[in-house]
Amino acid sequence: MIQVNDLSFSYTPHDEALRKVSLTIDEGSWVSIIGHNGSGKSTLSKCLVGLLAPTKGEIYIDGLKLDETNLPLIRKKIGIVFQNPDNQFVGVTVKHDIAFGLENQCLPHDVMQEKVMHYAKLVGMEDFLDKEPHQLSGGQKQRVAIAGALAMEQDILILDEATSMLDPEGTREIIELIKYLNTALNKTIITITHDLAFAGMSDRLIVLKDGMNILEGTPKEVFKEEALLKSSHLDLPFGLALYNELSLDPKTDQTLLEALWVFNSTM
Ligand SMILES: Nc1ncnc2c1ncn2[C@@H]1O[C@H](COP(=O)(O)OP(=O)(O)OP(=O)(O)O)[C@@H](O)[C@H]1O
Ligand SMILES: [Mg+2]
Repeated sequence: MIQVNDLSFSYTPHDEALRKVSLTIDEGSWVSIIGHNGSGKSTLSKCLVGLLAPTKGEIYIDGLKLDETNLPLIRKKIGIVFQNPDNQFVGVTVKHDIAFGLENQCLPHDVMQEKVMHYAKLVGMEDFLDKEPHQLSGGQKQRVAIAGALAMEQDILILDEATSMLDPEGTREIIELIKYLNTALNKTIITITHDLAFAGMSDRLIVLKDGMNILEGTPKEVFKEEALLKSSHLDLPFGLALYNELSLDPKTDQTLLEALWVFNSTM
């Protein structure tokens, strides 16, 4: 479980990228953090993995306070795939890239090879192990980045804008992978996204605006707050707006309404 209490963070003495953010993320859940550009999503994710030290407030991961002493232990529990997979491709080839994080673990060569193969297969990139980054599509790079994070075998995975650079097919593949990680491997997943239809598939949503947590709940609860979302520059896609509209009408057939919700969650 992740517990964040009154977390504030400033990059300079004059800004407040995060303001008194409090939230809880349950073990095994899939939570999406949504918000407009600059609302503090990536800053929050970097605080959660201990890359940025909060100006104020505390973070607990599985009851362990995130501080300098506990950081090595916390890093074993929580991993991140950063916003731009191009910036984080550090290996010469896919194989080296997936292995990168493992290299500090002093594993025997064959164990390392096995892990790289296992996680490459899990993301469907086993036929690309010797390819260089420029030979890969955006979606493939994203999957390699996810494999590299998965190889660290942490229970919690943060994916920052994992689908924003992908076409619909690439997006669908990542969604399937996330569902598998969450349901079959029981990983806690935190996705950061602008895409409300994608966010709607998670268990809970947290909405950030100007560094503040202004709204949270199940997707149905959050999407009902259309005016608040709009004021945060988050526009509901047509299908979700239609769902809201129809759900307000007592004459709407409930089976049809539920079917529309399910349809909205199938990309
Ligand atoms: N390295 C930095 N130095 C100074 N200010 C920064 C830095 N990184 C982010 N900021 C500022 O902090 C605020 C929050 O930025 P952050 O990147 O967390 O937002 P975000 O919600 O992830 O945005 P996006 O949707 O564009 O990825 C913004 O005002 C941004 O300009
Ligand atoms: Mg960001």
